[in-house]
Amino acid sequence: MEKQFKRTLITTALPYANGPVHIGHLAGVYVPADIYTRYLRLKGQDVLMIGGSDEHGVPITLRAKKEGITPQDVVDRCHRIIKQSFEDFGITFDIYSRTTSQTHRQVALDFFRALYEKGEFIEKTSEQYYDEEAKQFLADRYITGTCPHCKNENAYGDQCEACGTSLSPTDLIEPRSAISGSKPVLKETTHWYLPLDKHEAWLRQWILEDHKEWKPNVYGQCKSWLDMGLQPRAVSRDLDWGIPVPVEGAEGKVLYVWFDAPIGYISNTKELLPDSWETWWKDPESKIVHFIGKDNIVFHCIVFPAMLKAEGTFCLPENVPANEFLNLEGDKISTSRNWAVWLHEYLEEFPGKQDVLRYVLTANAPETKDNDFTWKDFQARNNNELVAILGNFVNRALVLTQKYFEGKVPARGELTEYDQQTFTDFANVKQDVERLLETYHFRDAQKEAMNLARIGNKYLADMEPWKLAKTDMERVATILNIALQITANLTIAFEPFLPFSMVKLNQMLNVEPLGWDRLGATDLLPEGHQLNTPALLFEKIEDSVIEAQVQKLLDTKKANEEENYKANPIRENINFDDFAKLDIRVGTVLECAKVPKADKLLQFRIDDGLQQRTIVSGIAQHYSPEELVGKQICFIANLAPRKLKGIVSEGMILSAENFDGTLSVITTEKEVKPGSEVK
Ligand code: MF3
Ligand code: ZN
Repeated sequence: MEKQFKRTLITTALPYANGPVHIGHLAGVYVPADIYTRYLRLKGQDVLMIGGSDEHGVPITLRAKKEGITPQDVVDRCHRIIKQSFEDFGITFDIYSRTTSQTHRQVALDFFRALYEKGEFIEKTSEQYYDEEAKQFLADRYITGTCPHCKNENAYGDQCEACGTSLSPTDLIEPRSAISGSKPVLKETTHWYLPLDKHEAWLRQWILEDHKEWKPNVYGQCKSWLDMGLQPRAVSRDLDWGIPVPVEGAEGKVLYVWFDAPIGYISNTKELLPDSWETWWKDPESKIVHFIGKDNIVFHCIVFPAMLKAEGTFCLPENVPANEFLNLEGDKISTSRNWAVWLHEYLEEFPGKQDVLRYVLTANAPETKDNDFTWKDFQARNNNELVAILGNFVNRALVLTQKYFEGKVPARGELTEYDQQTFTDFANVKQDVERLLETYHFRDAQKEAMNLARIGNKYLADMEPWKLAKTDMERVATILNIALQITANLTIAFEPFLPFSMVKLNQMLNVEPLGWDRLGATDLLPEGHQLNTPALLFEKIEDSVIEAQVQKLLDTKKANEEENYKANPIRENINFDDFAKLDIRVGTVLECAKVPKADKLLQFRIDDGLQQRTIVSGIAQHYSPEELVGKQICFIANLAPRKLKGIVSEGMILSAENFDGTLSVITTEKEVKPGSEVK
C-alpha cells in the first residue's frame, strides 16, 4: 500500500540570482512543479509550493566584481527579474523569497548551531591560498596559474579548461590571485565538515532499498555516489559574501552556499507561515517533494537529507523527481555564452504566449534524458497541436453553437452508437491523467489531455454537423451538446498545464472552473446554458517569426566564435625546424580504462607501430573508455614521459576543443598503419 499523506510540501530549486532565468529552468523544474502543485490544489489537497532565489556563493561575487557593483546589488537586480518571470509564466508559488532575507539568515544560523552543538561536524585545518594584498583567502576560481599537465597559463584553481584536467589550487605552477594579481601564500585555515561517510549506511538503506520507485536517472546517480563512498564535505568557506559562521574565532568565514541554500526551503516556509511551518517539515504526515535539475541530485538526495537527519527533527523528502537537461538547438544552454532563450525576452517577443511555451516545454520535457529545444519544434507543436487540434476543436464547437443555437447549449437527443463510443473513449481520462501526474510523468499526462481534444476533433470531423444543419437540426443539437461537454472537460484536464488559456476558455463557456472531480463527466454544461462569444485560443506562428528567432541564435553563435578567437588568438609564427621537432604519430587504441580516483583521466594502451606505450589523457569527461578502443588516434610521440596520478604517460593524445569546452579526439580520415607520421 502506498503511504497516504495529509499534506504535500513542494520545493523548487532556488535559482542562483546571478542572471535571469531561461527555458531550461522552466522545463527542468518550475513548469513540472507548477503542474503538480496546481493538480493537487485542484484535487482539494493541502499543498504548499516553495521557491526563492539562491543569493550566496562565489559566482555572484565574481559577477559583482566584473560589473563594479556589490554582490547585494547583483542579487537585488536578478531576484527582481527572476521573480517577475516566474509570475509572468504563471508559476504559482505560495512564496518566492530569497536567501538574503533576515528569516533565512536566522534559520540557517540556528540550523548550523544545532548541528554544531550536537557534535555533528568535524573540524579540519588545511592549508589554503591566501592573498596578502587583498587580505583574504582565495576560492578555487579566484586562483589562476599554469597547468602542470598542458602548461596552459590560464588554468583555474579547480580546473584547467585547456586540457580538462581537474586540479586543486596547489597543483598550479606560478599561482596568481585573480583579485590582486599577487602571488598567493599558503596559510592554515579551519573549516567545519559534515562527515557524510558516517551517514552512508542509513542513506544506502533509505535510497537504495526504501526508494526504489525514484526515477531511474535519480536512483542511478545516487547509487553511483554511494558506491564510490562518501567523504566529509566542508560546510564553510573563507569568503566575505554569505552567512557568517556563528562560532567564535570564525571571522571571515561564511556558510558554504550549498549548506545554506536548501535550508532556504525551510526558512521560506517559515516566512510564509511563522506559526505553522513546523507541521509542514516535521510531521510525518507531510510529503516533501523536491523539484530540481540533474546537477542538484547529490545535494538533495544525499547532502541535505544528511543535514536533516543530523539535526534530527525534520522529515526526509519522499521523492526527488529530478529532470535531465534541456539543450537549445543542439548545444548546452549557457548563461555566460548567452546561449539561451530568456524568459523575459520570450515574453517581449511572444506576448501573451506563456501557455505555448509551457506546452512545448512539457511536451518535450527532459524527463528521462537530455532533450533539445528547437524553434522548428516550437512552431510545429503550436501550429499542429495547439492550433490544429485543441484550438480548432474548441473553436468549432463554440462557433457552431453560436451560429445554430445563439450560443445556448442545445438539448441532447438519443445517442447513436458512435456518440456512446465517444463518451467511452474518454471515460478513463481522469484516472489516466491522475496516475501519470502522481508518478511525475508530466509529458504523458499532457498527452492524455491532448488526446481528449483529439477525440473531440475527430468526433466533429466525422459527424460534420455543418452539413446536417439543413436537414436534421435535432441531430446537430446532440452533436454540439456532446462537443461542448468535451470542451468543458478540456478546461479541467488542461488547467494544470495551460492555466492562462483555460481561464479564457472558462470565460467563453461562461463557467467558473468546473472542479477536477468532474473530469470525465458527460453532463458538465446543462441544456440552455448561455455561452459567451468565442475568440481564438491559439494562433498560428508564421515561418518568418521562427526564422527571426533562429537568426538571433546564429548571431549569438557568431559573436561567441569571434569572442573565442579573440580570447584564443593564433600564436606567433614558428619556423619549420620548430615544427619538425614535434613527432606526431598515429596509434591504435588497444586498451582504455578510467584512472581510479581521477574523474578526468583515461589510461590508454597504444600500438605505436613498433611497440606498445601507455598514455594518460584528461578526456574522461568526454569519452567512455569503450568508445575509443580500436580507434586510430593521433598523439605526440616524443613528449618527454611524465607522471600523472602515479602513472608514467609516454606521449599526449591530440584532441580538438570545441567552443563549449567539449573535446573531440583527432583520428585519421582513412585507415593508416599504426606509427604513421602526421605532418
Ligand atoms: N542554486 C542552485 C542551482 O541553480 C540550486 C540550489 S537548490 C537549493 O543549481 F537546494 F539549494 F536550494
Ligand atoms: Zn591543462
